[in-house]
Amino acid sequence: MEKIIAVLEGDGIGPEIVREAIKTIHAVEARFGHTFTLKYAPFGAGAYFAEGSPFPDKTKAVCDRADVIMKGPVGLAVERMNEIPQEHRPEVGAILPLRKRYDTYANFRPVRLPKALSGFSPLKPELIGEGLDILMIRELVGGIYFGKKTEGPATGMKYAEDECIYTDDQVRRVALVAFNEAKKRNCKMINIHKANVLATSRFWNAVVEDVAKQFPEVPYESVLVDNAAYQLVIKPTLFNGVALLENMMGDILTDQAGGVIGSLGLMPSACVGPEKSYVEPAHGSAPDIAGKNIANPYSMIGSVALMFDKCLNLPDEAEVVWNALFTVFERGFTTTELSSGYAPEKILSTSEFGDMVAAIIKGERR
Ligand code: IPM
Ligand code: MN
Repeated sequence: MEKIIAVLEGDGIGPEIVREAIKTIHAVEARFGHTFTLKYAPFGAGAYFAEGSPFPDKTKAVCDRADVIMKGPVGLAVERMNEIPQEHRPEVGAILPLRKRYDTYANFRPVRLPKALSGFSPLKPELIGEGLDILMIRELVGGIYFGKKTEGPATGMKYAEDECIYTDDQVRRVALVAFNEAKKRNCKMINIHKANVLATSRFWNAVVEDVAKQFPEVPYESVLVDNAAYQLVIKPTLFNGVALLENMMGDILTDQAGGVIGSLGLMPSACVGPEKSYVEPAHGSAPDIAGKNIANPYSMIGSVALMFDKCLNLPDEAEVVWNALFTVFERGFTTTELSSGYAPEKILSTSEFGDMVAAIIKGERR
């Protein structure tokens, strides 16, 4: 296969974890005989300072021409961010426009922690049971994130408003993705919502339940979001399966899930649209540890696995990457933020971790 990958390194730890993800891509090329052409383009806070825009036109052109986009985290330290006008901050000036441009409505955020790694979790090992394998699917281009924002009035009592809208189409297409995944994985589909209060949630549920009729073989459950947040730490194995969430609730619960498995460094993601998709880690750019070669590249490399699986339809290649990632941990190695209780020689730097993943993929002995 020959494909073009747009590479948006981003800010903070972005370039160093993207570098390791690229080692993984090259290892997969070597092993499977593919050719991936990498096209770098600026994106994020650094791009704003260098180009005057966090998502410059030339970057849009590179992304438009690519088959898939690989994006690192964005954002700089608070003082630097405060120098950027609100509309050019990377969240509203780059990430949301990227999602909107390619209509990347289905955000896959796998939450995986095998039993053998239960020590990474801050929860008691018995709560991790036989391990966690939750696929959170977050609607990514609708809801309150993309509703009209209003502030007013010029006189009188000031207020601010964020509109939350979901249309039938928007709910239906992401629900279809979630049910199809659950069918493929032969697991249940858990719909998370706030229908006891929100009209958008009642509407969401009605559409999801309509889609459920097409999948009689998939066990269906529905849980209120506040209770889901509670259960996620009390009995996380309840969620083994596919969990479907709207945009805002998905933002919050996927971070919480990262906490449950011990680190946001273990949270890769893929953002899939009808024609084009991109991948990114679910975490931020950690400017405090940037350049120190201690960041965990797992979420960025895991995003490469998701790119193969969800964006390029290369499931075998994806499996090889996942296996390599878990093999590093199974060999007893770890990363700095997960290193409590580990001997110093078992703690890998960012580049050592990436080297080991690449060597495993290529079948080399260490
Ligand atoms: C995420 C991030 C983004 C979001 C921010 C950076 C806009 O938190 O991908 O989870 O809220 O979606
Ligand atoms: Mn988030």
